[in-house]
Amino acid sequence: GWKMEDVLDEEIKVIQGKVGPEDHVICALSGGVDSTVAATLVHKAIGDRLHCVFVDNGLLRYKERERVMETFERDLHLPVTCVDATEQFLSKLKGVVDPEMKRKIIGKEFICIFDDFAQHLERDLGKIAVYLVQGTLYPDVIESCPPPGSGRTHSHTIKSHHNVGGLPKDMKLKLIEPLKLLFKDEILAVPTAFLKRHPFPGPGLAVRVLGDVTEGNALEILRQVDEIFIQSIKDAGIYDSIWQAFAVFLPIRSVGVQGDQRTHSHVVALRAVTSQDGMTADWYNFEHKFLDDVARKICNSVRGVNRVVQDITSKPPSTIEWE
Ligand code: XMP
Repeated sequence: GWKMEDVLDEEIKVIQGKVGPEDHVICALSGGVDSTVAATLVHKAIGDRLHCVFVDNGLLRYKERERVMETFERDLHLPVTCVDATEQFLSKLKGVVDPEMKRKIIGKEFICIFDDFAQHLERDLGKIAVYLVQGTLYPDVIESCPPPGSGRTHSHTIKSHHNVGGLPKDMKLKLIEPLKLLFKDEILAVPTAFLKRHPFPGPGLAVRVLGDVTEGNALEILRQVDEIFIQSIKDAGIYDSIWQAFAVFLPIRSVGVQGDQRTHSHVVALRAVTSQDGMTADWYNFEHKFLDDVARKICNSVRGVNRVVQDITSKPPSTIEWE
């Protein structure tokens, strides 16, 4: 019979065969399931010749950096270097409002950081990084470029997922993509609580702050709103019934009244969907009481927000993310 363990053993042997005995490998950890599983697999294959990097691009969720670094080190025992590149990313994104431009800029900055890290390994530690690990799930590959014979008809790029399409042709590092042909439910055979986390896009909150991400304190407001929404979902015991849930910061203001004050503050949208693979999705139908509680909590505790709306579109015609 067909066993997941056999597939993983096979993958480990392939990696050991591919990576030369003196070669070092860099893995970009995103904090998501794919890269974490990929890193764990490569770590099993080549041990401390794997060097993981976690980039704080300034577009992460509330306390995300602290939370994932703790998980990598304490639970997964992965060797991880955290690079704080907040200034680097946000300065490049300043004034940029076009969604595809934002994605391209972010993808490019990531590659620069990995190249820099590879140079640092070589210059300072005498270790030559030859490969970059990518945890690429099949649906990502399909959306950026449908493989021949996949039966998918669209031939254009819906969105440039930066972990697939954005890699430059002249990149020095070669790719290892151990998960390229595995589907998410197959990967779930690998045991760790980490696997239950909702997916989070590579470009991070940049695709959830509509317009210029550096405008005002949009990122900070979004982090607070998102954290309240996600925590409420966990408290209600429905996190695992939802494929993905998040808040979106809208670059508009509306009039409200808080206390006896007229306000002219921001509007945030809540989005939660169910899905099998992210290719299609239905909006999640919360109980009214839940929505009422969350909206009140957000307006009461997040300064600068006086209106909460819910996104009730499915995919298609919408996509899951707003940008
Ligand atoms: P859309 O918005 O295209 O999203 O319906 C489908 C799924 O993909 C995630 N997503 C991304 N994941 N890099 C990623 O790794 C990206 O650039 C990216 N863009 C969207 C999205 O969160 C959803 O789960």
